[in-house]
Amino acid sequence: MVSSVSSLHYVRQNNMETKNKKTIKVIDNQTGQELTLEVNNNTIRAVDLAKLGVTVYDPGFLNTASCISRITYIDGDKGILRYRGYPIEELAEKSSFMEVSFLLLYGELPTSRELEHFTHRVLRHTFVKQSLVDIIKATPKDAHPMGTLVSMLAAEGTLYPDANPAINGGDIYNSPMIREKQILRLLGTMPTLAAFIYRHKVGRPFNYPAYGGSRSYTENFMYMLDSMDDPSYRPNSTLVKALDTLFVLHADHELNCSTAAVRHLTSSGVDVFTAFSGAAGALYGPLHGGANEAVLRMLEKIGSVNNVPAFIEAVKNRKARLMGFGHRVYKNYDPRARIVRKLAYQVFEICGKDPLIEIATTLEEHALKDKYFIERKLYPNVDFYSGLIYKAMGFPTDFFTILFAIGRTPGWLAHWLEYLDDPDRKIARPRQNYLGSEERSYIPMTQRNSSGKYSTEYVSPAEKRRVNGFAVTSKM
Ligand code: ACO
Repeated sequence: MVSSVSSLHYVRQNNMETKNKKTIKVIDNQTGQELTLEVNNNTIRAVDLAKLGVTVYDPGFLNTASCISRITYIDGDKGILRYRGYPIEELAEKSSFMEVSFLLLYGELPTSRELEHFTHRVLRHTFVKQSLVDIIKATPKDAHPMGTLVSMLAAEGTLYPDANPAINGGDIYNSPMIREKQILRLLGTMPTLAAFIYRHKVGRPFNYPAYGGSRSYTENFMYMLDSMDDPSYRPNSTLVKALDTLFVLHADHELNCSTAAVRHLTSSGVDVFTAFSGAAGALYGPLHGGANEAVLRMLEKIGSVNNVPAFIEAVKNRKARLMGFGHRVYKNYDPRARIVRKLAYQVFEICGKDPLIEIATTLEEHALKDKYFIERKLYPNVDFYSGLIYKAMGFPTDFFTILFAIGRTPGWLAHWLEYLDDPDRKIARPRQNYLGSEERSYIPMTQRNSSGKYSTEYVSPAEKRRVNGFAVTSKM
């Protein structure tokens, strides 16, 4: 087994000694050192490999589990998604966003008494403090809504010093009541912040939440978006149901980029609002939640069904990316995309069919029979059709990801709770594989050569104008 090349040799072991236990034997081919690793649920512990003096290099966490979770199950090859064991298809059809939020947070479907109480408590926490309203009003009207949301969540954290571990100690979240309060605050205020950001954008006065009435969570959100100073306004029930179902579909997706960010930030002991601000930042990106917006912009750019074949060619030649396609985990049709596609037609019946749907379906048809996409197992993901629904419902394109953020809130919260109780929790601190300079001595200024990496050319004409205006002797 010993070889001159530094390599590790893995052997699946199944002998008498390890009977009933799945193990893997690793042999360092240079030193001959052997290590038997226990395999639990197809997982070995990376720290065990440290005994051989090696670390695991895994950019993008392609094959690294960073926690044990009991919330959401995905089988990417089979296209299966379950929250707490319940198939997403059943939840989308039979459940509601509040019910699914309860399920994700507390592990079981609520009784009717629990659901009523929980919904009532969430709706009693929908008011936001005036200082948040003032901050929204101070943002530019053309600010990207997600940029504002990221700021608002961080700002919201400053309003609750009672729940801030930096002020009141790292163990405050051990209190079930304090945890519960933050859950209600975040679930409750997320739609209000989103609606106020929308109303500010379109230049209309804000509608305060209509709590205490018979409106559901999602109906209340649509009321805040759309009521024209009419407290009796009721949004269309089919559209409410469609949006509620979209929230259900987005509620959790195990360790995606933003949920991993919640856990990562929480590991430092920071307050949950700041952790959510970081998560919203991760969601904002076009490769994650921002993809629904990117899909829409892509479809608009393609412009016509006739241009689809040329666009597909551009994707294959790596000149473009087919947004809303591909997924780190799904190597099959994303089950959420199937449901969203159906929902889109229900929305079109009320709001009219968006012409971009033809381009989207033609793109899908072409991609699903093309070798490039088949070989790479690229299928539509949830964002491929959700943007079309949002567009048909008249939401501004840059507002789409905020709708995703409302839906993802219970998932982020469920992972926050699970993390707080995780006996294995440790501050998230990956290792690096250092390939930089060896130690070297400080070089005096007169003996240095430019690396060429810093350019003195990146100065704007306006900056040159200003600098010259002050009659500086050394011109830039
Ligand atoms: N269009 C064209 N090619 C693609 C696409 C795509 N959308 N997605 C993946 N590929 C190709 C890659 O170029 C790569 O090809 P190669 O092996 O020849 O180099 C191969 O498929 C594997 O792709 P990776 O980028 O390695 O896959 P990864 O798991 O890292 O990325 C991701 C997943 C980011 C979602 C990617 O598929 C993508 O960029 N999709 C478009 C953006 C998108 O829709 N994001 C939303 C995801 S769902 C969500 O977050 C809610």
